[in-house]
Amino acid sequence: MNLGNLTADLCADHKAEFCQLLRSTEREGVEYVIEDLENLGFFEAPASTRFHLCTPGGLVQHSLNVCHTALELMEMMHRRRPDLKSVLRKDSVILCALLHDVNKAEIYKPVVKRRRNAANTAWEEYDSYDVDFSGFPMGHGEKSVIMLLLSGLQLRDEEMLAIRWHMGAWDLAFQSPEAKSNINEARKNHPLCGLIQCADGLAASIIEHTAPGLEP
Ligand SMILES: [Fe+2]
Ligand SMILES: [Fe+2]
Repeated sequence: MNLGNLTADLCADHKAEFCQLLRSTEREGVEYVIEDLENLGFFEAPASTRFHLCTPGGLVQHSLNVCHTALELMEMMHRRRPDLKSVLRKDSVILCALLHDVNKAEIYKPVVKRRRNAANTAWEEYDSYDVDFSGFPMGHGEKSVIMLLLSGLQLRDEEMLAIRWHMGAWDLAFQSPEAKSNINEARKNHPLCGLIQCADGLAASIIEHTAPGLEP
């Protein structure tokens, strides 16, 4: 898929900011993660096939949106609950927000689809994506955690939990009683889980919202 000059420039800016934020955590293994994400096509991937940011570079843009939102929420929570400052750590928030969706890096395949044109007078072709889970069909949040560990990233327990359960009630596994107990325990004991869930939801449903007539 041709990114076009403007989009390619924007993607490069987003990639630079993503890597700079990731390196700011000084966490062991971030260079391996960046290398693996480059090889998987993370920085060119969309965030979805047809929902939020379904364009080249959408996934890194979404990750940055979640990170900015999560850092603002963290500041707010620190003001309201100063006792939680040592629990809601900035490096943890950055790592979880930027990396929660790395599972999507290699699932979207560019395809050309056909549709009726706006005047409904003819068929036209347009660039789109299909989804293909066959590369590593491991799930969603759990796949992100496993990919990061395989890359060699050192993750704290609460960071693994926040990434694993970032979809909250939108996760299909949440329908099982055991998964429900797990996510409830994770949220109860680790405020980072609730913060990342909120930031992801706010980014996807408000910041990246593009209903007709409401485009930014
Ligand atoms: Fe996700
Ligand atoms: Fe997300």
